[in-house]
Amino acid sequence: MEIIIVENKEEGSIKAYELIHKALNEGAKVFGLATGSTPEIMYEKLVESDIDFSEAVSVNLDEYVGLSGDHEQSYRYFMQKHLFDKKPFKASYVPNGLNDEETEVARYEKILAENPVDLQILGIGQNGHIAFNEPGTSFDSITHKVELTDSTIQANKRFFEKEEDVPRYAYSMGLSSIMNAKKIILLAFGEEKAQAVKDLVTAEVATEDIPSTILINHPDVTIIVDEAAAQLIK
Ligand code: F6R
Repeated sequence: MEIIIVENKEEGSIKAYELIHKALNEGAKVFGLATGSTPEIMYEKLVESDIDFSEAVSVNLDEYVGLSGDHEQSYRYFMQKHLFDKKPFKASYVPNGLNDEETEVARYEKILAENPVDLQILGIGQNGHIAFNEPGTSFDSITHKVELTDSTIQANKRFFEKEEDVPRYAYSMGLSSIMNAKKIILLAFGEEKAQAVKDLVTAEVATEDIPSTILINHPDVTIIVDEAAAQLIK
């Protein structure tokens, strides 16, 4: 695991942007993408650049169950707004929050099988979740329906008018699906991520109690952390 410590989110976002650019130039075709506040500036950098994704495919990690793609808090809406409307891909896949579980799991697994991810971008939750794989999720998990933990609901309520509006379920790529990516870049910015970063980089064995630790078994992971998120590992 390569750890890159940068001064702040801006610098980390530029670094991530550069790695995406390099991967595209080297032939990467399928990009696994994340939502949330972590990658926002990275998407800004991509939008401002001359990068061309018109021959590339994107596959997003997750989506809230029950929200349609035009709901302002849906992850499809987020991706359209921050990236796809300005930098179109040949195809961009996000789980469909309106489908029933059986339909959506089958549909998304087929998409992943047909579009193996070359480069996966990840954020990390304060409890070590990656995508919506909360502590306790099986390392063998594929796309599945997740009940969000209280910690995740608390962290995400800032985007909704009131806490009751936060959906209680999400569809998420599983941990084994994420591990199939050829290369993974995980971004963590801000002091609230410091413990999660420490748990990941000091893990000696992967444990399902801390989902991110599965990444220590992946052959090509780069983590980009700012000074604040790195404060417990220096
Ligand atoms: C989002 C996702 C989540 C976030 C994580 C961190 O697609 O998969 O795992 O990466 O919750 O969220 P932020 O970036 O808002 O701190």
